Order: sequence, then C-alpha cells, then structure tokens
Amino acid sequence: MLGIETSCDESGVAVYDSRDGLLGHALHSQIALHRDYGGVVPELASRDHIARVLPLVDAVLDDSRLRLADIDVVAYTRGPGLAGALLVGAGVAAALAMAAGKPLLGVHHLEGHLLSPLLSEPALEFPFVALLVSGGHTMLLEASSLGRYELLGETVDDAAGEAFDKSAKLLGLGYPGGPELARLAAHGRAGAFDLPRPKIHSDDLDFSFAGLKTAVLTRVRQSGEALDEQRRADLAAATQEAITDVLAAKAAAALRRSGLRTLVVAGGVGANLRLREKLDAACARLGARVHYPALQWCTDNGPMIAYAACRRLQAGLAQPAQGHAFDIQPRWDLSELAAV
Ligand code: KG4
Ligand code: ZN
Repeated sequence: MLGIETSCDESGVAVYDSRDGLLGHALHSQIALHRDYGGVVPELASRDHIARVLPLVDAVLDDSRLRLADIDVVAYTRGPGLAGALLVGAGVAAALAMAAGKPLLGVHHLEGHLLSPLLSEPALEFPFVALLVSGGHTMLLEASSLGRYELLGETVDDAAGEAFDKSAKLLGLGYPGGPELARLAAHGRAGAFDLPRPKIHSDDLDFSFAGLKTAVLTRVRQSGEALDEQRRADLAAATQEAITDVLAAKAAAALRRSGLRTLVVAGGVGANLRLREKLDAACARLGARVHYPALQWCTDNGPMIAYAACRRLQAGLAQPAQGHAFDIQPRWDLSELAAV
C-alpha cells in the first residue's frame, strides 16, 4: 500500500505491507514556509505539495527497494483538510495509480490519526475511547469497531491545538506554537498565573477553548513591561496546565461514562508530554490503559494513511476504485465513514 498525505502543511508518503508492516516513509514539513505568516497559507501549501510529493514517492520506493509496479493499491487523504492541498495528493495518487494500472483508495484523515497508535501496537483492540486532539479538531469518540466511531463530545469553538498555537502567538512564540509553548512552559513556575478551565465541570463531553485565549491575552496586557522571560514562561506553563487539565478530565469522564477501559490518544497535541503525564495518572486511577502513537506519528504523516487504507481493505470496508476518477472531501464528518 502506497499512502500519500497532503491535507495541510506536511507532505507525507509511506509504503505499508499487510504482512511486513511499514517498509518506508518520508515527510516534508512546510513549517519554515509558513512561519513568517504565523499560520498555514493554503495556496503556498498546495504549491509546495506539488513540488514535494513525487520526489518523496521516489525516495520512499527507493528506500523500500520497490518499484511502482510492486504497489498493489495507492491510497491518499481524501479529507478533511485544505481543498487545494488535498487535490494535489489526490491528483498525484490518481496519476500514479493510472500509470501503474492499480486501484485507488481515498482515506479519512482523522481515521488515519485515530489508528496511528496501532502502527506501533498492532495488537491493540476495539472497543476504545479515542481522544483526538489536533490543530483543527478536538473530539472524544467511542470507537466500537473499525469504521464505527460515535462522537461523544467535541469543541464548540477552538481546537486544543489552536488554543496552544494562538496562546503561543500572544506570548511572542513562533509557529506552530504547541511545541514552542511546551518548551517555554518547562521553565515556568507552577501557580504563578491562574487561568480558567473552560467547561471542566460541565455535564457534557464538549470542550471550549476560545475563552482561554482571551484570558491569556488579558494576562499579557495586564503584565505589560513586567512580562519578562520568567513571567512568559510562567504564563506558558499556566496555559499548558489549563488546556491539559480540561483534556484529561474530559477523557476520564468519557471512560467513566462509556464503561470502557482503554483510551487511545491521537493527533498533534498528543505529543504534549504534560498531557501524557495527566492522562497516565487519570487512567491509572480508573484502572484503564492508555495508548499513544509514537511521537513521530502524532502529527500528520504518510504511514497513518497507508495503514488506515490497509486496515479498511483487510476488513472489507473499502473498495478501491479502478480508473482515473478521484475526489476529495474537504469537510467530512467521521460519523459518515461507516458508509464508505
Ligand atoms: O495533527 P496535526 O499535525 O495537524 C492537524 O491535523 O491539525 O496537529 C498539529 C497541532 C498544532 O496545533 C501543534 O501546535 C500541536 O498539534 N502540537 C502540540 C505539540 N506538538 C504539536 N501541542 C502541544 N504540545 C506539543 N508538544
Ligand atoms: Zn492531522
């Protein structure tokens, strides 16, 4: 299975074999390209994917000692994501499939994230609760089997990654803000700032992070000149504490409500080590097990797309298409997936 991921700002390519596992992968991150703009510029993203995808495919095939003819199915991220960026991956995938006379399969980006812990732990079994925390999404799902994902709760405004990124920007940090804020927070003093934990005690499993960003802005303004390096670190730590407290509390609540004893974490924010500490502790209290993707598979990557495609085919849940038609779905609800 050849997998191509281009939904946002990383071009990822991988070859996954149902028997031998991951045979090769390569990634090009556009972080440097978008840094000056403080966020992803969709048109620049699309153009860069055009330049990167084919060389990455060549590199991965070379590393795996394979030729295009050895590939059985070409998989690509069909959505959700930036339309122009998705079109590049889909177009290249369709062209390669046509050239090689092989079928084509579109994959749901979030299912890729959701299954990414299984890349390192193939024995992990359904059912489980999934906490999906990325730059664009924050949701809790009950995954009862492959393709059956029931939404338990989600953010009503900003995603957790967005809360990290926007707060980091207010603190004068670079893009993407999550990892930078986490680095600065390591030098912060606990309790120096008190920030709200939006919706932490609400009855539902929804999240809200927009107010947190406003609270950070207020603290920055109130501090004025006094916001020296130490105080910035203090505020970064307080922000990280607030976001991770809410995520851990809601994940624990989802486990309690569903009666399930397995938590799977996925998406870029899943790389946050403080979040992992809190989820470990919460799951230990509940007698639950928690599984994370390897750090390199938390953010967008090719292997998760090739792997999700492989699992779907094996389960008979997907029919790869012959021919030259391809499509993308920039907005695509996970709950619509079972019907694919
Ligand atoms: O899953 P992902 O690569 O892209 C989306 O599909 O959205 O997630 C990117 C997000 C960004 O918001 C980034 O700041 C955040 O994940 N992120 C982190 C960390 N590493 C990445 N947030 C907090 N701590 C981290 N260590
Ligand atoms: Zn993603």
